[in-house]
Amino acid sequence: MTDMERLPIDDVVVTGGAGAIGSRLVARLLRDGARSISIVDDLSSGYAWLVPDDPRVRLFRGDVCDLDTLGITVENPTVFHLAAFFANQNSVDHPLDDLHTNGSGTLQTLMWSSAQRARRVVYASAGCSIAGHGIDAPISEDMPVSLDLDTPYQITKALGEFYCNYFKEQVSTVRCRFFNSYGPGEIPGRYRNVIPNFIWLAMHDEPLTITGTGEETRDFIFVDDLVDGLVRAATTPAAHGSAFNLGTGIQTKVIDLARLIIARTGSKSEIRYTERRAWDHSVRRQADITRARETLQFQPAVPVEEGITRTVEWFVQNREAIGREAGIYA
Ligand SMILES: NC(=O)c1ccc[n+]([C@@H]2O[C@H](COP(=O)([O-])OP(=O)(O)OC[C@H]3O[C@@H](n4cnc5c(N)ncnc54)[C@H](O)[C@@H]3O)[C@@H](O)[C@H]2O)c1
Repeated sequence: MTDMERLPIDDVVVTGGAGAIGSRLVARLLRDGARSISIVDDLSSGYAWLVPDDPRVRLFRGDVCDLDTLGITVENPTVFHLAAFFANQNSVDHPLDDLHTNGSGTLQTLMWSSAQRARRVVYASAGCSIAGHGIDAPISEDMPVSLDLDTPYQITKALGEFYCNYFKEQVSTVRCRFFNSYGPGEIPGRYRNVIPNFIWLAMHDEPLTITGTGEETRDFIFVDDLVDGLVRAATTPAAHGSAFNLGTGIQTKVIDLARLIIARTGSKSEIRYTERRAWDHSVRRQADITRARETLQFQPAVPVEEGITRTVEWFVQNREAIGREAGIYA
């Protein structure tokens, strides 16, 4: 596809733009020449210092549910809706907060985007949602929607997809199902993913505790590859109304990941095991990315070994700032 055939990106709204993925997306859009980027973020799990310092970027600090009152005036924006109550365990502990942000926040984003005549809304859905658990084969977008979802977060991520489908005649929506993103920008913490927590613990020679046997697999995608998929979803005309898996199509065992992180950090950490979390019924996770490859020309480029090296480098460079954030344990 030539640039002529792509939808342009001029003025952008990124909800959740101070978060792990959103801040990397903002950096990429700036490099690509975006005219203005309005970030909507309440900083509940994001950080102002992650937001690139650039005159084209403005941070509107507030609740995405109040998007229509924050004073954002852009016409025909491209909207990336990433604000979310993150993630599974947090939603088990706080299901009403999860519904507020992921349910009402998504509905509000779609209503506002429709009123602003947005060119496109790209919605951050989740690979752990939609198809349910207990699937051994790579998960494709065509699998039936499951009623057996494991957490409120998975339910509200699916709800967001229903809303995107409902709105797609009023505003062009694309649903992206992220698999396990990792990379620079994700701060460790109680409710965060395994990779930033293992890296931080390994840097402090603390034990890495695997919830399960370690044979469980996930499809880990480097954040900048995921961001590339989001930009393609926003600019590819034929993506309108569809859902796309954004993963690598490759499974990595959690035990292999732990060993890789120990090696890359030169850590003395030992590996321990504990019971799998009560809600976690997913033994294997792998994306089928055929549709994203064919329609978006999406092709992740960073193997997990290189991605972990780059992430560890970012942790070392930002050690002090990461250590300052609340909720960090070491
Ligand atoms: N990280 C992953 O592996 C993964 C996997 C599947 C889906 N996703 C989705 O991708 C998106 C980004 O995830 P992330 O890893 O960057 O998480 P993140 O927590 O770093 O980013 C979410 C951002 O949303 C903001 N936010 C939360 N509630 C808000 C509210 N009510 N109003 C305004 N802002 C609010 C947070 O402050 C944060 O900056 C989320 O929608 C998440 O559900 C992520």
